[in-house]
Amino acid sequence: MIAIGCDHAGFDLKPHVISVLEELGLPYQDFGTFSTDSVDYPVYGARAAQAVASGQCEKGIVLCGTGVGISMAVSKIPGIRCVCCSDCYSAVMSRQHNDANMIALGARVVGSELAKMILRLWLTTDFQADRHARRVDLIGRLEKGESIE
Ligand code: RB5
Repeated sequence: MIAIGCDHAGFDLKPHVISVLEELGLPYQDFGTFSTDSVDYPVYGARAAQAVASGQCEKGIVLCGTGVGISMAVSKIPGIRCVCCSDCYSAVMSRQHNDANMIALGARVVGSELAKMILRLWLTTDFQADRHARRVDLIGRLEKGESIE
């Protein structure tokens, strides 16, 4: 199950996101927003992120104008590793090396075709683990306030 969350600025990109999920046969849960009426991106980002953090959803896709604000917001939730992404290389690497479990796209930054290409890559690339697992574990320890020195 893939969680989707967006604000008003990301709303128009959502049908394109859903088209990729349908193409890949991935079920999704849409946590809103459901119109272009102005809303606060942390609210909708958090709804999607909490579903990922709880294990209800495997991954999450969040959308706002830049991808920046909503990625900052969801990354405050323990267990969330969100990449704010506008290129294909980062999409792949954020899965292979960082085990990103959420991706944020900026609807005012990327066109719909680039967004779809990024998502296809991000959704179909696996974490490589090995030495990268140690580094991701270190991120988790920072999140808990532990020293990693
Ligand atoms: C909304 O105007 C805009 O600030 C928001 O979508 C996002 O880009 C914030 O980072």
